[in-house]
Order: sequence, then C-alpha cells, then structure tokens
Amino acid sequence: MASRKDDVQAAIPAESLATQYTRVRNATVDLCKHLEPEDYVVQSMSDVSPTKWHLAHVTWFFERFVLREYSKTYDWFNEDFDYILNSYFYTIGGVYPRPDRGLLTRPTVNEVVAYRECVDNAMLDLIAEKTGDKDFDFLIEVGLNHEQQHQELMLTDIKHVFSVNPAWPAVNPALTPPPIRQAPPHEFRNGPSGIREIGHRNDSYCFDNELPRHPELIVEHQIGSRLINNGEYLDFIRDGAYSEPKLWHSDGWSTINREGWTRPLY
Ligand SMILES: [Fe+2]
Repeated sequence: MASRKDDVQAAIPAESLATQYTRVRNATVDLCKHLEPEDYVVQSMSDVSPTKWHLAHVTWFFERFVLREYSKTYDWFNEDFDYILNSYFYTIGGVYPRPDRGLLTRPTVNEVVAYRECVDNAMLDLIAEKTGDKDFDFLIEVGLNHEQQHQELMLTDIKHVFSVNPAWPAVNPALTPPPIRQAPPHEFRNGPSGIREIGHRNDSYCFDNELPRHPELIVEHQIGSRLINNGEYLDFIRDGAYSEPKLWHSDGWSTINREGWTRPLY
C-alpha cells in the first residue's frame, strides 16, 4: 500500500532535466546577488576558494565532462581554464594549487559570467537533444549535485572572507538573525551494541562515499540528545577548558599546548 509520502510525491509533477539544470544554476548566481566585484576575488585562507573560482569551477565540470564528451559542435570557451579550474581530477591533467587561487586576477568576474552563459546555452541545447539517455541524465545529476555542494562551500568561504573584515559586511544584508531560542536540555542517552545497516538506502542520488550499504558493528555507547550549540562552546571556553588537561585526551592536550590554542579557531 502506498504511504502518504508516496501520495504527496506522486502529486508533484517530475521536474524536467532542463528545469532542474536552470533552477540549480540560477540558485548559485542568486547567492552572489549582494556581492561586489572585489568580494569575488579574495582568498582569506588556504582552505577558502574565491567566489569567482567556485562559479567558474562548477561550470567547468559541465564543459569538461558533458559538453566535451557529448557535443559535436561545442568549442572550448578558453582552454587555459582547464588547468585553472580543475580541482582534483589528476587523471585528466594538472591541478592549479588551491592555496594560490586568490592570486588569479584572470579570468575576470565578467569573463566568468560570460563563461557561465556560454556553457549554459550549450548545455540547454544538449539537454534538449540528449535527455532520456540514462548515462547522460546521470552525468547531469552528478554535475548538479556537485554544484549544490559548491553552493554550500561558497557561503562558508565568503563568510570567512567577510569575517576578516572589521566592518563585518553581510553576505545578504536583507536577512535578519533568527530569534534567540532556549535550547532543550542536553542529556546523554545510552545506545546498545549491535549490527546496523549503514550507507545510502534507495535509488535516489548519493555520492560514492555513501556506498555500498553494508552492516557495521556498533559498540555500546552514549550519545548527546542534541547538537552542542554556540552558547555551550562559549561556556566551555569561559570555564577555562583550554587550560584544564582533565578535559582532553593526551593528543588533544599536546596539540593545545604546542599550538597555543585558547579557543576552537583551528
Ligand atoms: Fe568541485
């Protein structure tokens, strides 16, 4: 018997691949609508990538792995991008070092915008032609999930870029902070030992590191009833936890002393 969830899902018409593509690509650009050109270029630490690089890299995925493989007419927008925008595919050529992405003044923001438009036009033509081919559709799904992963990275990274600016610019000044709520009491709950199935469980999209689904032995444990919140991190720091060896395993305590840490900014 179909569940209520199935009924609801059946009532929503399936989104075409072209609509999905346009929705995800537009959402990426929408995240940048309050940024100024200078904001797109800065790399405030080695783990951060400039917004401009993210916008171009997710586009490169479609150019390199879809257009180049499937289109008979598409020509490279700029062949130099292949090296600059490759992030980890060592099997297809060199990778420009991540810590140096903030040194790239070219391509400019305008060139990246033009690159996105060029690839999007070619992609929508190709989707109209190829949709229904199982391998092609799957590749687009991978590309769109990859782009959504980078949407999260873009937000994390631009927040770090803004955090080093004493004027504290906002990624979206129109957003107001959520109301302050009292967290429910925290408690530790006992979990029994046993064999559990872990990994992705149905046919919907997942990344390869979520597979294969397999049994795993879980030993007896305790787990918090909810996540630790920022207020509790602050209480922990203010209570002098970073000078109290009894609260740390020996490796953690050695690292705290070696690095001179007094709060979790690592
Ligand atoms: Fe990526």
